[in-house]
Amino acid sequence: MQLPQQLYETRTLDSSGLKTLLETQTFDKELTALADAVRREYYGTAVYLRGLIEFTNYCKNNCLYCGIRNENRNLERYRLTEEEILSCCKNGYELGYRTFVLQGGEDPFYTEDAVTGIVKKIRSGYPDCAVTLSLGEHPAETYQRWFNAGANRYLLRHETANNEHYRKMHPATMSLLNRKECLFHLKKIGYQVGSGFMVGTPFQTTECLIDDLRFLQELQPDMIGIGPFISHRDTPFKDFPNGKLRLTLRLISILRLMFPYALIPATTALGTIDPQGREWGLRSGANVVMPNLSPVAVRKKYELYDNKICTGEEAAECRACLGRRIARAGYEVVSDIGNVKKHS
Ligand code: 5AD
Ligand code: FES
Repeated sequence: MQLPQQLYETRTLDSSGLKTLLETQTFDKELTALADAVRREYYGTAVYLRGLIEFTNYCKNNCLYCGIRNENRNLERYRLTEEEILSCCKNGYELGYRTFVLQGGEDPFYTEDAVTGIVKKIRSGYPDCAVTLSLGEHPAETYQRWFNAGANRYLLRHETANNEHYRKMHPATMSLLNRKECLFHLKKIGYQVGSGFMVGTPFQTTECLIDDLRFLQELQPDMIGIGPFISHRDTPFKDFPNGKLRLTLRLISILRLMFPYALIPATTALGTIDPQGREWGLRSGANVVMPNLSPVAVRKKYELYDNKICTGEEAAECRACLGRRIARAGYEVVSDIGNVKKHS
């Protein structure tokens, strides 16, 4: 049996099969077709929108790839007030968004209590919406308090599941073990959990990618976000090449076949390395897009990587622009909370 068919039927492959799929173009056509068929079987043509509110670009960490790392002094830092965050939600709700994603650097200014307060306000103002947090690593008790306050989902990419590779991308103060533990805590508490990794980061090998897939099989996340690494001029990784479109799409298809129920975004990074990147992502098995709801005035400052799209004049029009793009790609934006389908 051909590898894509085997992956479709058993939802896994041995590591030599995965290596072949990842390293050759031979199976791309069949892989994409099967992934799109599975996505349609589970989710039809629906594309779910998540309104991303990037509320602080302060971060205490120093990940070597990231543009908002603490040591980047060439960046104007900003924080949104509670009122500003709530006004993003109001605007988003009127545009049809039913999920709000609060994302930020690891910024101690927003204490556990401060985040709890914000979550409670969004929860009571928008009872028919999902509140998603993406605030990095915190103690299990903190995650629990935010969950009790009304947060439903948490996004925390593991970034790489290979320990040696993790060490090359992060300062010694950070640990892969801690990050993995956070993900298991979040799951245990009852969050719908999203994880994921970057494609084409410096020093990444096929074996690293296989480790990423194996870790996801262990975690069984509800959401899986992947995007190409894109170099940022003010980071130690500034001279490394960007991740490749083709490999990222191949991985999206593999993920769709391994995790048929998963919510998989066509990411902004994918749209940044290719003008049609997000559309290709949808055709390869992705079923979510996460447009920016942050005030246009701060969008350029949340620059994790160079040339990030949707940060300029056009930014206010993302909702309409995306609706057109998604329709042209053959799918349909739905105004729906977009919960994960039962894992089966
Ligand atoms: N290129 C692509 N993605 C990046 N991220 C951080 N820095 C970069 C970069 N240079 C991703 C990380 C993080 C997510 C919010 O953005 O995977 O989890
Ligand atoms: Fe942002 Fe098109 S999606 S401008």
